[in-house]
Amino acid sequence: MRKIEIAPSVLSLDYSIFEKQCADLNQSLANYLHFDVMDGHFVPNLTFGPDILKGFRKACPDMILDVHLMIDHPDMFVESFVKAGADLITFHYEACTSHDEIKKILEKIHSYGIKAGLVIKPKTDAQVLFDFLDQCDLILIMSVEPGFGGQKFMESSLDKVKILRERIDAYDLPCLIEIDGGINDETAILAKKAGVDVLVAGSYVFKGDIQKQVNELLK
Ligand code: DX5
Ligand code: ZN
Repeated sequence: MRKIEIAPSVLSLDYSIFEKQCADLNQSLANYLHFDVMDGHFVPNLTFGPDILKGFRKACPDMILDVHLMIDHPDMFVESFVKAGADLITFHYEACTSHDEIKKILEKIHSYGIKAGLVIKPKTDAQVLFDFLDQCDLILIMSVEPGFGGQKFMESSLDKVKILRERIDAYDLPCLIEIDGGINDETAILAKKAGVDVLVAGSYVFKGDIQKQVNELLK
């Protein structure tokens, strides 16, 4: 059996009780912390920069800080997020203009000694990732259009997960599959069955008792 990891998305965290929410995250069985970076251009919303990540690094020292860049020119911000404490940086296939550019950004992230991955939006085919799987520690399949939490899970993402699971297993690659968007206790079951390793969940985890919600996703 694959080990399933949960990555609560801090997009849905209640910042008026930041310390309490971080204490609950630390006590939960979630090992990843998903940090959505939006630039108001690649996606129609704005979120956080590296300084906020530094706060999470201090507040959740043992969690794997999983930085999801939904921005244009991801290469420009790799270094600042590394310095702020990222353990893993993923960026969008659609934000890049060439094969070479993607390879160079993956190399750049790895050169800092952290993990790297590529993300695809719902309308992008899974096959575009094939050329990069051996260079990725993780690939992220969006199961909603990136930009906002609380959207409905798109079942079409499950076929992509299956295609990639098959490919990764066939080549015996150490690349993990993460899914992001609309994950709750029901869609988590579908995603795990399709072959996902890491489940990102924002609204579902933060709508109730964090530890309990994480446990539900692990069931
Ligand atoms: C959306 C973000 C997600 C978001 C998921 O663009 O990438 O990480 O927080 O939120 P839920 O789990 O509420 O769909
Ligand atoms: Zn995300």
